[in-house]
Amino acid sequence: MQQFPHDTIIVLDFGAQYSQLIARRVREMNVYSQIVPFTTPAADLKAMQPKGIIFSGGPASVRAENSPRPDAGIYDLGIPILGICYGLQVMSIQNGGSVERPEKREYGFADLTVLKKDSSLLKGVSQNSRLWMSHGDSVCAIPEGFEKTGSTPNCPYTVIENDEKHFYGVQFHPEVVHTTEGKTFLENFVLGICKAKQDWDMGSFIATAVEEIREKVGTKQVLCGLSGGVDSAVAAVLIHKAIGDQLVCVFVNNGLLRKGEADMVQKLFRDHYNIRLQYADAEQAFLSALKGVSEPEAKRKIIGKVFVDTFYDEARHAGDISFLAQGTLYPDVIESKSPSGGPSATIKSHHNVGGLPEDLKWDLLEPLRELFKDEVRDLGRELGLPEEMVSRHPFPGPGLGVRCVGEVTKERLDTLRDVDAIFIDEIRKAGLYNDIWQALACLLPVKSVGVQGDERTYEEVCSLRAVTSEDAMTADWFRFPPDVLQRASARICNEVQGVNRVLYDITSKPPGTIEWE
Ligand code: XMP
Repeated sequence: MQQFPHDTIIVLDFGAQYSQLIARRVREMNVYSQIVPFTTPAADLKAMQPKGIIFSGGPASVRAENSPRPDAGIYDLGIPILGICYGLQVMSIQNGGSVERPEKREYGFADLTVLKKDSSLLKGVSQNSRLWMSHGDSVCAIPEGFEKTGSTPNCPYTVIENDEKHFYGVQFHPEVVHTTEGKTFLENFVLGICKAKQDWDMGSFIATAVEEIREKVGTKQVLCGLSGGVDSAVAAVLIHKAIGDQLVCVFVNNGLLRKGEADMVQKLFRDHYNIRLQYADAEQAFLSALKGVSEPEAKRKIIGKVFVDTFYDEARHAGDISFLAQGTLYPDVIESKSPSGGPSATIKSHHNVGGLPEDLKWDLLEPLRELFKDEVRDLGRELGLPEEMVSRHPFPGPGLGVRCVGEVTKERLDTLRDVDAIFIDEIRKAGLYNDIWQALACLLPVKSVGVQGDERTYEEVCSLRAVTSEDAMTADWFRFPPDVLQRASARICNEVQGVNRVLYDITSKPPGTIEWE
């Protein structure tokens, strides 16, 4: 284990869902943060010379046999420690305190009573500050040398500290937004108590990532599948910065892309960045395989299979490849975490593509796996990617195949591409693109009568959808000013052949999904 080039806060991971979020909050202060497993020996931690250590929460009960414990030598290193939730409990137990399980687990908001105004951890925190709690066990006796400095009605030891040794513990989660002054607690620890220098930024991330990629890849070749989305684009440009022509990108045009997308990707990567790009025009293969198929799952399976066949076919022509690069982000890691914890080679935009063919043996290269989406966008900007690419709305792997409800034909796809382009254009013109998580159009296999000029028409219906969301798990429909919808609707009916009626979808998720299929 080596020392890091920046003042570092180590997050000791006890398996919490929120470990990355803690690291991210530290990065937001421009302080470097690294997550390491709780099993890391104290000697290794010492060698890293962190300015402070944060014990994460975790799903285990500290009272259980074999519950995760850090090396007890950690308390002799003279490094400040902040224990969060499970982290507080494990610190208490290892230093002579005790933990019990009250009858009811506490989950939700609680108001803090600050008991020690001049506590270094509670500096600037308001009386009755709102906290987010989620715990089964509670500390019932604190270790010698510790004092209680904050409490809540259901949890006497909400904040404890041993100021002399710089050990602090909080039962709540300062890293989540529900804890309104969470940032203050964490800043007090990182900047006030640990005195970490705020010398880290995305530029430093790039420098470190470039070094790591070079070291891992050596003189070998890397293959990266581009989807047209921001994650794979940022991963490719970052890797290209590290290893230049040892990277080859593959872009599969499945015929299910948005208007102008295939050209845009080729221009950007080939012409602007001078990245080796293999472009596979597989439109015909996808359309023939989809012919006559309307059932959504069947369509997804076909699209996934043709993609995999095409991608592997391209890969075989790409030379002697050792690594498959993917733009996997932290939320993807969480979603697809296997119970065994083992990494599996899957192609992200087409979940569950199965194992790699026998003749293709690749290691994974995932330089973005510690980052959140908005951090990847910042990284993309720092790498010089155009804003239009960096702030692009998410787009599903199976593309317009899922938005073309019913049978997928070239004609219907062209219609849908035109509708989508107009809708997005009107949103951009209204300056609303970045207020929306995702906007999309879909074509419904429903015909209705209309009138245009003196003629009756009998054409398909399109539905527009725009949602706000934090993470796509839940979503609300976007409240457009009516004139934006009016302009989009008028243009769609006037300019697009094959559509004579426009709907706006006002279903939230749940019960709806974001996509129509
Ligand atoms: P739903 O429609 O389930 O979508 O509310 C949630 C988010 O996931 C995107 N999505 C996909 N992304 N491959 C992807 O990479 C897929 O097969 C896929 N299906 C849905 C969707 O666009 C939304 O952002």
